[in-house]
Amino acid sequence: MQLTLAPLQEWLEPAPQPFLKWAGGKSQLLPQMTPFLPKHFQNYHEPFLGGAALFWHLFDLRRRGEITFQDSYLSDANPELINCYLQVRDDVANLITELAQLRNNHCPETYYRVRDLEVKRLTPLQRATRFIYLNKTCYNGLYRVNRDGKFNVPMGRYHNPRIFDEEQLRQNSQALQSAHIECRDFRTVLERAQPGDFVYFDPPYAPLSPTSNFTSYTAGEFGVAAQRELAEVFRQLDRRGCYVMLSNSWCDFTLALYRDFHCVELKATRAINSQPSGRGKISELLVCNY
Ligand SMILES: C[S@@+](CC[C@H](N)C(=O)[O-])C[C@H]1O[C@@H](n2cnc3c(N)ncnc32)[C@H](O)[C@@H]1O
Repeated sequence: MQLTLAPLQEWLEPAPQPFLKWAGGKSQLLPQMTPFLPKHFQNYHEPFLGGAALFWHLFDLRRRGEITFQDSYLSDANPELINCYLQVRDDVANLITELAQLRNNHCPETYYRVRDLEVKRLTPLQRATRFIYLNKTCYNGLYRVNRDGKFNVPMGRYHNPRIFDEEQLRQNSQALQSAHIECRDFRTVLERAQPGDFVYFDPPYAPLSPTSNFTSYTAGEFGVAAQRELAEVFRQLDRRGCYVMLSNSWCDFTLALYRDFHCVELKATRAINSQPSGRGKISELLVCNY
């Protein structure tokens, strides 16, 4: 009998970590979310991809044999973000070479020169390099664009920011190999989710109060109307026989929208709010239809 170490090595490998900093990233909530994940489903859909924290976690759980599913459909309405995932999946070696040139070159001149590059004139590889560099060096890892779609976040106060981790990026690339990645609006998930699929929604959160509306991730706003439409998409997928899970802020508005489903209160530490009272542990909503 020939013993092979490959499966053991895979088992020992750490889970892929998000290669981007993303406002509202779910990494810290994964231990609280895991007990609510379905164990066996057909395909996985994540239509508000951001940093993809849940996708990396599901990839790891599947590798360890703890859950089973087939294909992953990852999407987001932010074209620069999606281009970045495509380059990580399809051209990681060249991406690493490009990023390495920016690694020890962090100063205001470089930051604003890279920020002000005309995206339309860049190759997909250059756009992804720019995106990762800005994500790791801008203020708080925020993504904000002006009316013309130009990224306008100022430089962050980092002494020596870690722009990328080569080993980690290769792992991310490996995990993405068979994923379908597209720039799409969340509503289009209705065109392909089938009974037995698992859909996880992590939208821009509904504001807790009128002053804390942090919704401008993309050029379009994600306001009350979009939140209501999302709840309707959730209900349609529920009727179709999908497993549906959703994260949102814990407030009267969202609790009313999802009152027919299983609502769980999670505790998160969020630093995105500029109000001192917005720091520390806050409640977040996790909704499941199963
Ligand atoms: C809360 S973030 C997702 C965070 C992510 N789950 C993570 O762990 O990092 C919300 C995402 O929704 C995307 N988004 C905003 N409006 C959208 C829309 N109409 N359709 C699809 N994605 C949208 C934003 O670009 C952003 O990446």
